[in-house]
Amino acid sequence: MITLKGIYKIYGDTGNEVIALNNINLSIESGEYVSIMGASGSGKSSLMHIMGLLDKPTQGEYVLDGVNTIDIKEKELSSVRNKYIGFVFQAFNLLPRTTVIDNVILPLVYRGENKDIAEKKALEILKKLGIDKRAYFKTNQISGGQQQRVAIARALAQEPTLILADEPTGNVDSKTTLEIIKILQDLNDEGHSIVIVTHEDDIGDRAKRKIRLKDGLLIEDKIIRQNRV
Ligand SMILES: Nc1ncnc2c1ncn2[C@@H]1O[C@H](COP(=O)(O)OP(=O)(O)O)[C@@H](O)[C@H]1O
Ligand SMILES: [Mg+2]
Repeated sequence: MITLKGIYKIYGDTGNEVIALNNINLSIESGEYVSIMGASGSGKSSLMHIMGLLDKPTQGEYVLDGVNTIDIKEKELSSVRNKYIGFVFQAFNLLPRTTVIDNVILPLVYRGENKDIAEKKALEILKKLGIDKRAYFKTNQISGGQQQRVAIARALAQEPTLILADEPTGNVDSKTTLEIIKILQDLNDEGHSIVIVTHEDDIGDRAKRKIRLKDGLLIEDKIIRQNRV
């Protein structure tokens, strides 16, 4: 589903370059659950941004579902992104002063779906994630854990091929962390492909495959026995 070949990401100008990704070669198949581990600054987010088509590599090839993404024009990138990828970020990134349900509906309407169908679909997903009772609350009136579930609902509404989660439990307490991890595990059991970035080993161990970055280098890539919630 995803193939990265010889990926480099270099920030900064000549003389003060930072090599955030140093010749990354990686393939991820449909249905996998992969954790990307590594210390702060090791390149995890840079890799995630490239996989999520939020940023282009300085060099290398990225094939997503048979499409060479390097050739995709800037103005077509967002529609490709919306079609394939659902994001969950550490900081939730929900629309403020907007209801929970509108956060889930708006991307669908933006994509051209009928408002009533989108609302029905959004409610179903919110129900599945156990937050339908908060559907008409503003996002600033719910807890951090609930906000992260809304963010996951928003990602799911787009029926993405791939869910990318960058430190999704970085801003929530340990009980909520387990709830979020359980949701990701259930989604993977249902067939969604998941890539999660974390610097915590006990969260990385919840995946089925563990990749480790160090100073932009991929230093470890192994299938693990999933520690299930
Ligand atoms: N926009 C940027 N401009 C310059 N340097 C950056 C930028 N983003 C990340 N970096 C640098 O690239 C390296 C990898 O960063 P990042 O991918 O955010 O790592 P991680 O997510 O593992 O903490 C770090 O040295 C970071 O300072
Ligand atoms: Mg990061």
